[in-house]
Amino acid sequence: MNLTGRSLLTLADYSRTEIEYLVDLSIRLKQEWQTQALRPRRLEGYTLAMIFEKLSTRTRSAFETAFGEEGGLPVFLSKQDIHLGSKEDLADTARVLGRMYDCIQFRGFSQATVEALAKWSGVPVYNGLTDDFHPTQALADLMTLKECRGSLDGAHIAYVGDGRNNVARSLLVACARIGVTMSVGAPAELSPDPAFVATCAAEAHRNGARVDVTTDPVAAVRGADAVYTDVWVSMGEESEAARRAQILSPYRVTTDLMRSAGSDAVFLHCLPAVKGQEVTVDVFEGPASRVFDQAENRKHTIKAVLLSTLGRIDAQQ
Ligand code: CP
Ligand code: NVA
Repeated sequence: MNLTGRSLLTLADYSRTEIEYLVDLSIRLKQEWQTQALRPRRLEGYTLAMIFEKLSTRTRSAFETAFGEEGGLPVFLSKQDIHLGSKEDLADTARVLGRMYDCIQFRGFSQATVEALAKWSGVPVYNGLTDDFHPTQALADLMTLKECRGSLDGAHIAYVGDGRNNVARSLLVACARIGVTMSVGAPAELSPDPAFVATCAAEAHRNGARVDVTTDPVAAVRGADAVYTDVWVSMGEESEAARRAQILSPYRVTTDLMRSAGSDAVFLHCLPAVKGQEVTVDVFEGPASRVFDQAENRKHTIKAVLLSTLGRIDAQQ
């Protein structure tokens, strides 16, 4: 397995073996991070440009700490500070960054922007969230579920809430690719695009799993190993807030809904959470919640992506 030079724009570009490799490497890196007194400096002399059009706590911190701990230099570039698509066109910015940095992280609105950065920069580019996808989040989600269950074989994730957002879409792609069943409970107007679902469902079927989409949140969570939700209003959609609160209230994750999932089900959320809206405080703070493990795992999964795509770790390690 050699991921050197690869970008991560969507997990649709990664094979099942590659995704499983990254999840397992993340688990090994976490163990190494927790037990080794002296941290390896595998990225000494390397640089990472981190472009942010949208706010971030976890993704920014995961990239900065993962890269910095390994001896590399991450440089934060908010859109207020650089000429991104205003005075200078994107292809020029990408080519300049590609001459100075070893890799680029982009968080922002358009998937086309992260794709253009990859096309023009000539260095690995990582999607730290766009309107369409959040692939590094999905890696951390799979890692967390694997830690909880010991294995992803036969696993089932239920996602309830806004079924067409970036987090839901990346999870659908990832689960279908590695054969994890995913059920989505969402109101019709926030259900994932049927053509996208059909593609994921066909792939899930080939990999021994299923994709189910329903408007019934109780049916969605039945038999699930993990109940997952995300904010009802994603960044950039603030004008939708009132309508979302109206149509998504039956999809709030409550203790009752968790009971329908079964006694061993864990609760997952990419965070940040609006407690009392998509999830009640008792579930968020309750014994089934794994949200802070999941948040920590962002760092280990991102470290796995960085080391692998920069060719700084032996695939056998
Ligand atoms: N989950 C996640 O991406 O969090 P941030 O928006 O804080 O980066
Ligand atoms: N769907 C959310 C995820 C935040 C990590 C958003 O895009 O705002």
